[in-house]
Amino acid sequence: MSKRRTNCVVLAAGDGKRMFSKSSKVLCEVSYKPMILWVLDAAKNSGIDEICAVISNEDVERTVGSGIHITYQKQRLGTGHAVGCAREFLEEHSGEETLILYGDVPFIDVETISESLKLHRDNNASATVISAVIKDPTGYGRIVRKGGNISAIVEEIDADDATASIKEINSGAGWFSTDDLLQSLDKISNDNAKGEYYLTDAIGIMISEGKKVAVYKSKSSDVTLGANTPLDLLNLNDIARERILKKHLSGGVHFVSRSGISIGPDVNIMPGAKILPGSILYGKTSIGSGSVIGPNSLVFESSIGKNTSFNSSQIRNSSIGDEAEIGPFVQIRPCSTISDKVKLGNFVEIKNSDIGEGTSVAHLTYIGDSDVGRYCNFGCGVVVVNYDGEEKKRTTVKDFAFVGCNTNLISPVTVGKGAYTAAGCTVIKDIPDGALAIDRGQLNIKPGWAANKLKKYIEKKSKLLEMNNGKSEDK
Ligand code: UD1
Ligand code: CA
Repeated sequence: MSKRRTNCVVLAAGDGKRMFSKSSKVLCEVSYKPMILWVLDAAKNSGIDEICAVISNEDVERTVGSGIHITYQKQRLGTGHAVGCAREFLEEHSGEETLILYGDVPFIDVETISESLKLHRDNNASATVISAVIKDPTGYGRIVRKGGNISAIVEEIDADDATASIKEINSGAGWFSTDDLLQSLDKISNDNAKGEYYLTDAIGIMISEGKKVAVYKSKSSDVTLGANTPLDLLNLNDIARERILKKHLSGGVHFVSRSGISIGPDVNIMPGAKILPGSILYGKTSIGSGSVIGPNSLVFESSIGKNTSFNSSQIRNSSIGDEAEIGPFVQIRPCSTISDKVKLGNFVEIKNSDIGEGTSVAHLTYIGDSDVGRYCNFGCGVVVVNYDGEEKKRTTVKDFAFVGCNTNLISPVTVGKGAYTAAGCTVIKDIPDGALAIDRGQLNIKPGWAANKLKKYIEKKSKLLEMNNGKSEDK
C-alpha cells in the first residue's frame, strides 16, 4: 500500500498577552528567528506535503511568506477552535494524515516528526500525541495514563493536585487521521476553567469512542519546550545559543569566549573561521574559512568569503569576497557587493553599491548607489552625493581612479579610468579617463590680518595659560 499523504496545521493565532508583545507571540524570536519560522522549517524539512498556518495577524502572514496556506482565526477561542478554522483545508485533505504543530514550540525537529509518524502508522492510530517528561511541568497540559495507556490530557488550570504532579507533558504537537480529527472537532465543548475549546479534548473524545490513541515520548524534552512568557523565551534563547555554538565548535569554528556571541540557526560557518566576542550573526548568512568576525560585529543575511577580517562593523543583505579587510566601524547597508581584497576603514558607509577588487576606502567616506571599479583609491572624507531630495542617482568610478580627500561626487557622474580628483573638489560632470578634476579657487594669504582680528582673544587665552602654568609659553 502506498503511504498516505501528509498535511500540517500550525496554530499561530494566539495573542502576545502573556509575552507583553504588541504583535503576535509567534513572531517573538529565538536566536533572531521568529518562532513560527522554526516550526515551519521543521515541517518543510520533514517532507510534509502541504502546510496551513492558522493566524490572526497580517505581520505573521508577511513573515510566513509564500507556499503556506493561510487561515485567519478572528477570535481566540482556544486551540480546538483554531484547528476548526482550518476545516476547509482539512476537508480538502480528507483521507490523509495531519500533523498539528504549535507556533510557540520552536524546537520541534525532523527526527521527532518522522519517528512519531512511524509510531502513528505502526499503531494504525487515530491520533498520536508527542509528549515529554520534564522536571518542571508548570504551565503544560499533563498526560494522564490508565494502565499505561493515555486516558486524557488535562490542562494545568483544570488539574487537581495529583494530576498536577504528573511530569509527562503534552507538547501540543501530534499526528491525527485527518478524518478522525475533523469528526472529533465537532464534539469539543468549552466547558472548562478557561472557557476555551481545547484541542486536547479531541484526544479524550477519541479515547471514549474506543479509537486508538498512541503517545510518542520524545527523546529530548527540548523539542517540546514552549514559550508563553519573556522568561520562557530567554530560556529558549539560551538553549538555542548553546546548541548552535556546539554545532559550530564540532564543525571546526573557533571562539575565544561565549560572551555576547549569538548565532542564528541558518548561519553557515566554514571550519577555521574565528568568531570574536560581541558578534551577532543571523539570517541566511555564510562565513568562509580563515575569516575573523568581531569583536562587536553584526552580520545579517550576508555572505563573507575566505580570510576576510570584519572588525567592529555591521553588514546587512550584502556580500564580501575573500581577503578583504573591513573595519573597524564600517557600515555596509543592503544590496552591496564588496569584492576580494577590498579595504574599508573607519567610519565608511556603503549602500547599494558594488566595490571592485582591491579598492581602498580607508577613512570617513560615504558611497551610496555607486559602481566602483578595481584598485581605486578613495582619500579621506569622500562623499557620493546620491540624493537630491527627489531621486537617488547612480555614480560610476572606473578602475584605478584616485578620488582625492573631501571630494563630493554629485550623482549621476562618472570618474574615468585612472582619473584623479583634487582634494576638496565637487565633481558635477563626468571626468574622462586619465584626467584631473580640480575646481580650486585662488588661495589668498593676507599677512597680519589674523593677528589683528584675534588680538583680544589671544590676550585672554594667554592670561589663562599664565594662571595655569605660572608662566606663558609660546608655541
Ligand atoms: C497548549 C496545550 C497544552 C500544552 C502546551 C504546550 C491546549 C488546550 N493546551 O497550552 O496541553 O502542554 O500548549 O506548549 O491545547 N492558539 C491559536 N488560537 C487559539 C489559542 C491558541 O492559534 O485560540 C495557538 C497559539 O498561538 C500557540 C498555540 O496555539 O501557538 C498554543 O496556545 P497556547 O495558548 O500557548 O496554549 P498553552 O496554554 O501553552
Ligand atoms: Ca504555549
